[in-house]
Amino acid sequence: MANAVENTPVPLCVLISGRGSNLRAIGEAVAAGRLRAVIRLVVSNRADAAGLEWSRGQGIETLALPHQDYPSVEAYDEALVQALKARGVRLVCLAGFMRILGPVFCKAFPQAVLNVHPSLLPSFPGAAAQAEALAHGVKVSGVTVHFVTPELDAGPIIMQAAVPVRDDDTYETLSTRILVEEHRVYPEAIQRIIAGGWRVDGRRVVTNPVSET
Ligand code: GRF
Repeated sequence: MANAVENTPVPLCVLISGRGSNLRAIGEAVAAGRLRAVIRLVVSNRADAAGLEWSRGQGIETLALPHQDYPSVEAYDEALVQALKARGVRLVCLAGFMRILGPVFCKAFPQAVLNVHPSLLPSFPGAAAQAEALAHGVKVSGVTVHFVTPELDAGPIIMQAAVPVRDDDTYETLSTRILVEEHRVYPEAIQRIIAGGWRVDGRRVVTNPVSET
């Protein structure tokens, strides 16, 4: 994806494992013209993911790829790469996808796999981000959109947004407040990548300097 200036909608794949509210936020941004993309395919590692049903209702192709059917992360990655390449997918958006993608997958889509995470990384990586933020007593948490690398929740950061943690917050109230920001920030970050004009400089995703010519 790096630095490409896209004139036609970019074919996306969204990977989910559950309810799919970020998937819907992406779909709404596409429909509203805020995201120059088309959701070509939605894949879930769980056949009962609610997001699959929503996708079918939208006429989006879906694929259930249960991880239990594959003997290793590499075998799963290969099946996923094959399914996505066969459909011309150029950008992959993880949205509540609860599986690790390995080097095989990441190498097949260089700088083209994004994830949304419900904390200000590098604080609280992993599946319990909101609970750990509350338990730690931080006053501010938030949302991070980052590139996916084989190391969990550790790739270069594309966008972040802060969310206050209140004294009376529970897991549910904090998660809900963070989710509202996820739905706002994720489509914006995806569009930023699609629009081009950026590069990855070490760990930093930075805007290219404007050419003088
Ligand atoms: C979101 O909080 C996301 O940040 C995390 O898993 C949750 C998925 O929610 N990785 P949804 O399936 O998009 O509603």
